[in-house]
Amino acid sequence: MRTDIVTIFPSYFDTLELSLLGKAKSRGLLEIHVHDLRDAAHDRHRTVDDTPTGGGAGMVMKPEPWGEMLDGILDSADDTDEQPPLIIFPSPAGEVFTQAMARELAEEPHLIFGCGRYEGIDQRVFDEYADRGRVRLISMGDYVLTGGEVAVLAMIEAIGRLLPGVVGNPESLVEESHEQGLLEYPSYTKPAKWRGREVPAELLSGNHAAIAQWRHEQALERTKRVRPDLLPG
Ligand code: ADE
Repeated sequence: MRTDIVTIFPSYFDTLELSLLGKAKSRGLLEIHVHDLRDAAHDRHRTVDDTPTGGGAGMVMKPEPWGEMLDGILDSADDTDEQPPLIIFPSPAGEVFTQAMARELAEEPHLIFGCGRYEGIDQRVFDEYADRGRVRLISMGDYVLTGGEVAVLAMIEAIGRLLPGVVGNPESLVEESHEQGLLEYPSYTKPAKWRGREVPAELLSGNHAAIAQWRHEQALERTKRVRPDLLPG
């Protein structure tokens, strides 16, 4: 998968060199190109924002640098697929990101992420690229971040680990929270007793069916208690 990220804070994405995704990157499973939006702002101060038309608080990101940057990325990519690349703008006004969405986006060959700051991006940028191709606004949840960067890091991590070959043992992707509509069961390792707290006897039984049943019951109980909204009516 190829990803392009447009931001005014490129160094946010330095952490993508670490851990599993860093390895995926160096093994060529995930290509990440980070672009500084200010490279497409040509005045002396490399201005990317201006006051909101019609008045109001805060600043809005100007359309021209976005247009130049996104056109450049679209022109430079050799996208041979019938579908144009998907442009994602993280926004608290977007659809809420889920594991199902991560799975769907992991099938895309090319994702472009546009990180907004301030009070957002001039609406004409979304309209222009939606008319010319594919655009989605995606939210991390019902709270407000100071910009899209942290949301894009979370999305790339959730999507990247689903790419073939990124996680060593693909079985570990199956039994985790949200993959089967339930939260994950609690996990334990050695020692069997720590500070007087014992690993549940079922897990030490060696009986695979009993272990599977215990884990399912735990997942169900935890989901009922913490996230009843995930369970069918
Ligand atoms: N930018 C600001 N808040 C956000 C959120 N909740 N999700 C995605 N992008 C955002």
